[in-house]
Amino acid sequence: MEYINIYHGVRMCGIIGYTGKKNARSIIIPALKRLEYRGYDSAGIAVINDEIQLYKMKGELEHLERILPKLEGNIGIGHTRWATHGQPIKKNAHPFLDCKKKTALVHNGIIENYMELKEELMKEGHVFTSETDTEVLVHLIEKYYKGNLEDAVRKALKDVQGSYAIVVIHLGNKKEIVAARNESPLILGVGDDENFVASDIPAILEHTDKVIYMMNREIATLTEDNIKITTLDGKEITREWERVDWSLEDAEKGGYEHFMLKEIFEQPSAIHRTLLGRILDMDETNFLKIHFDSIKIIACGTSYHAGLIGKYLFERIAKVPTTAEMSSEYRHSSPSFENPLVILISQSGETADTLGAAREAKHRGYRTIAVTNVVGSSITREVDEVIYTRAGPEIGVAATKSFITQLVALYIIAINLGLAKKTLTYDNAKHIKEGLRSLPRYAQSVLDNADMIKEVAKNICHAKDIFFIGRNIGFPTALEGALKLKEISYIHAEGYPAGELKHGPLALLTKETPVIAIAVKDHTYQKMLSNIGEVAARGSPTIAVGYESDEDLRKYVDSVIYVPTIENLFAPIPISIALQLLAYYVAKERNCPIDKPRNLAKSVTVE
Ligand code: M6R
Repeated sequence: MEYINIYHGVRMCGIIGYTGKKNARSIIIPALKRLEYRGYDSAGIAVINDEIQLYKMKGELEHLERILPKLEGNIGIGHTRWATHGQPIKKNAHPFLDCKKKTALVHNGIIENYMELKEELMKEGHVFTSETDTEVLVHLIEKYYKGNLEDAVRKALKDVQGSYAIVVIHLGNKKEIVAARNESPLILGVGDDENFVASDIPAILEHTDKVIYMMNREIATLTEDNIKITTLDGKEITREWERVDWSLEDAEKGGYEHFMLKEIFEQPSAIHRTLLGRILDMDETNFLKIHFDSIKIIACGTSYHAGLIGKYLFERIAKVPTTAEMSSEYRHSSPSFENPLVILISQSGETADTLGAAREAKHRGYRTIAVTNVVGSSITREVDEVIYTRAGPEIGVAATKSFITQLVALYIIAINLGLAKKTLTYDNAKHIKEGLRSLPRYAQSVLDNADMIKEVAKNICHAKDIFFIGRNIGFPTALEGALKLKEISYIHAEGYPAGELKHGPLALLTKETPVIAIAVKDHTYQKMLSNIGEVAARGSPTIAVGYESDEDLRKYVDSVIYVPTIENLFAPIPISIALQLLAYYVAKERNCPIDKPRNLAKSVTVE
């Protein structure tokens, strides 16, 4: 297969730094273990002694542990990587060293202008050993280092654009760690005669519960008995530590009761990661310039629902006839009459039916693209091209942030397809891209309204059956809302096109059957109001999910879940997030095992 744009390295990794009196290795490896839930496709460690001792390995941490000798040294850094773009191989694993092997650095984020920086640095004689964006940072620090590591880091960061959490050590400053953050998480742990820096609290919780949260564009310099924080411009900042009273398990869930809830709340930053570096130009979609007559999207479960929404986007924005099919059905279908481009969507990249469909599509001679979250997963080896969604590890069985980031990837593909097919003017594309940029903000405002959704959940949590109805782009959104609810709350739920109710399902409605209507304010809106009327006439409790500007909506239903008013094209994003929360709170009211529903597995590797 062809890896596209493998040089980028956006990732959701775990990083740790230690300075103190203890053996650094004995702190760093267990800390990385605690961070493995953030990523596990490669890991590495660097500890200062007479020289920088560096070890890294592809695969889970245990692979690194197997080859790791006893390391002497009380200061070091470690990294566990979750590549969301780029091959998970040893040479791309962190830490990275500079040319003279005096500086070691770990990074979480993306350096957007790394290409031009790399070219300049290479002209100046720096030798690169990896395909990552990260490596420019360590060479920039080497370039600016004149005996003061903090100064060198500050100068280097002024040259870079993008997001980062970095931790750096240097042989010339054997007691010091320098860390910096911008848009990627980083915390400082305050110990007795020792200090820590990490991407997350679980990494340090067994050593200290005193934490300082770093803010964007800040640099911290740590020795065993001091922590100094400055802004990127050098202004010193005083910030007190805060005590964390979480258990280790709570800390891994970021303080949330379930991984699912944590993952729902991560969605604004997950969307941001999916978009990073792709709004201006997504060279990963160059394949769209080849000839094809139609698009076929193939996937299972939630990923299939993303595909159904993708159909609307591709047809509406790019005017390309598109079908969405379930993987398990595609494999037994007849070959297409035209020449389709086949897009396979899979969070895990391991779903047996989708892998089988990918093989079948290849066998039929079609060009295949995978949209997946897991770098190096099986599907990436089956297809011609890959687009990564960069959601980060998803642990809850119910797909949440992986779904929303799949949608974001599909919007980006649709825009590029529209431009390639010239169905979209430059101005229209710009307008849609502006909409995409605002999505993290819209997602956040749904989350800010979680309490209101919790109240609605209390009203419906005893129902035996619930219907979700939608029209147009609201229909697959209804299907996904129903799937989320049924899989974690065990309430029978069905998603239906609102216009189809009267052709059968209306017979099932009683006063005990709540109906949730997706009320997108597009050309189908009036018809949806009529459908709500039909339902209400049967005495069923009615709930609408609609735009906050739609004051009148509450006149037609018993209750409304309001989401921010957004362009109809983007409606599935805030509405799906609201429905994820609804499913979550209903399941919680019913005391269900939310992260591990009965009979289900996170990735279904049997056909
Ligand atoms: O890893 P995949 O995206 O291929 O998984 C497909 C489905 O198994 C998955 O979306 C499933 O439906 C989820 N549990 C739904 O929340």
